[in-house]
Amino acid sequence: MKDLFENNRAWVEEINRDHPGFFEQLSRQQKPEYLWIGCADSRVPANEIVGMLPGELFVHRNVANVVVHSDLNCLSVLQFAVDYLKVKHVLVVGHYGCGGVQAAVRNDKLGLIDNWLRHVQDAQSKHYKELQTIADEHELVDKVCEINVIEQALSVCQTTVIQDAWDRGQDVTVHSCIYGLKDGLLKNLGMSVGRTDQIYPLYKQAIQDLFDSQSA
Ligand code: CO
Repeated sequence: MKDLFENNRAWVEEINRDHPGFFEQLSRQQKPEYLWIGCADSRVPANEIVGMLPGELFVHRNVANVVVHSDLNCLSVLQFAVDYLKVKHVLVVGHYGCGGVQAAVRNDKLGLIDNWLRHVQDAQSKHYKELQTIADEHELVDKVCEINVIEQALSVCQTTVIQDAWDRGQDVTVHSCIYGLKDGLLKNLGMSVGRTDQIYPLYKQAIQDLFDSQSA
């Protein structure tokens, strides 16, 4: 624990050196343009990956970046971010080699978390036919990681929060991205939705692209 406090002091000194008055100014208000919905995995730190300082990213993380309509925690974050902070972009960010997705794919029995990962299995089941052709487990897990991002982004689009925002003409776009643990790179999976009528065409296209890239 001692290291954490020492690191914190060093970090404060560094920020104060590079950005004098940073904390004082930020303590007055936050005005982030982005909401990041990502995996809780320690290797996927939201701010660092996209080079953002405190105040620039509103963040919600859970195991396997799942968005379900009965999760008051995630929905509250989304509602506050959209209705009050007026974020312009909601990014659903998965990552390759996700342990949660892997456990879902393998149908591992890990305890309580199995119930949460059932949502990933639901996403997987929707594309059972296409996924059947993938024999290699790593490849399958990575493909389900991609599918899970698209499905959870679809879920975000279908929330009352996003639907109501679009109905009143608010400018907010939902994106699907995936991060590579092996190279540190963030990739856009192509489903960027800014209006209700774009949801299904872009969803279908993004899913199709996933399987086209596989056979290519
Ligand atoms: Co993960």
